[in-house]
Amino acid sequence: MRKAFHGNLLYLKADPNLDTEALVDIKNHVLFTKNGIIEKVMPIAEVSPAEKLKVEWHDYQNQWIVPGFIDTHIHYPQTEMIGAYGEALLKWLEKYTFPTEMKFNDPNYAKEISRFFLNELLSNGTTTALVFGSVHKNSVDAFFEEAEKLNLRMICGKVMMDRNAPEALQDNPELSYQESKELIEKWHGKKRLSYAVTPRFAITSSPEQLKKAGELLREFPNVYLHTHLSENKNEIEFTKELFPEAKNYLDVYKQAELLTKKSVFAHCIHLENEEWEDLAKHDCSIAFCPTSNLFLGSGLFNLEKAEKLHIKVGMGTDVGAGTSFNMLPPLNEAYKVSQLRKGMFSEENKKSLSPLKAFYLATLGGAKALSLEDKIGKLAPGMEADFNIINPAVTPLQKLRMKSANTTEEQLFALQILGNKDNITATFILGEKFEHKN
Ligand code: GUN
Ligand code: ZN
Repeated sequence: MRKAFHGNLLYLKADPNLDTEALVDIKNHVLFTKNGIIEKVMPIAEVSPAEKLKVEWHDYQNQWIVPGFIDTHIHYPQTEMIGAYGEALLKWLEKYTFPTEMKFNDPNYAKEISRFFLNELLSNGTTTALVFGSVHKNSVDAFFEEAEKLNLRMICGKVMMDRNAPEALQDNPELSYQESKELIEKWHGKKRLSYAVTPRFAITSSPEQLKKAGELLREFPNVYLHTHLSENKNEIEFTKELFPEAKNYLDVYKQAELLTKKSVFAHCIHLENEEWEDLAKHDCSIAFCPTSNLFLGSGLFNLEKAEKLHIKVGMGTDVGAGTSFNMLPPLNEAYKVSQLRKGMFSEENKKSLSPLKAFYLATLGGAKALSLEDKIGKLAPGMEADFNIINPAVTPLQKLRMKSANTTEEQLFALQILGNKDNITATFILGEKFEHKN
């Protein structure tokens, strides 16, 4: 089935801080798709009337056609506890997160929240995500079943957790290995689904369990590793007490052989120099989660340092510590994190996060962080047709603001700072319109 979408195509084909030609900003173009894959892009003026008649035509003139957003770190079982008041990481986990995650031993509940979660993600324009399940194997089955029905490109994994958590949420090294293995064999590579081996973080796994996670990565070299790293100062201190022989926090994971090019570490706020260097050396990725980092008071991620070391970075909402399913608020907060760093750490001479870099992080940067840049993240022939139609001026305030935003960069920045779900006109999955359910 061939389809055509007429609008203003907008995407980053490279990191704009490394390539001044990275922005593709082509007005009045047509994106052709065939069987869910982008076939070609051409100016409207070159599309003949005969060709137009042969395809299913979608007119989004004067709106942006942009790649689907990519969320590189989010917890689906935490959907219902988003916006829980008053705590920093460790207390927040104990008081809100663990009690909520206990509910996922019920497969029906897992299915209901999976549906809700995916509807929320898609109606906010996020088409691919790297997702934490709960410790329950059935939570991941439920998630993948729902994602498969929608033909989504999604990555998920069962939490591995055998200490420092309520009894009802603990597995053990052997059980977590077995269950993860069964889930990998069932789901990894099925349609557009992939598996991530998911030890929660160093505090909730014994060294034996982390070794089992490493074993899985050796047995299944194409699966991801997804965990948290260096988010909160008390977390780091406790990790050092639990692993006195480790040189630093990352070394706990390194000793278990968890550092691969498909390893994604969320947060990475308080890293020591050696940890930064190890992440670069092993070609690991970082999920930058500013709404979460500000909400839990965790700290200010140093994006410039990651950039200098050529470490792959994607954006994460980190719901439920993050406060939005929509990717625009995290981009908004990412800008403010860069401003705060400038103001607080004598970094005044440094550049603030640019809107082009911000949109790169939420699209192609995220795709690179997930080793998916040959499939998603830009609107080029051969890529999967997961994309959004965006109207950057919907509210009266946005309309007023856009009148004096003269360049695409200024318009993108206004969208980043003022935008939300209202700006997503439509979301397409493999060229099929997702019907937003409000
Ligand atoms: N560290 C360990 N578990 C979690 C979690 O669920 N959320 C966040 N933000 N950090 C964590
Ligand atoms: Zn998280």
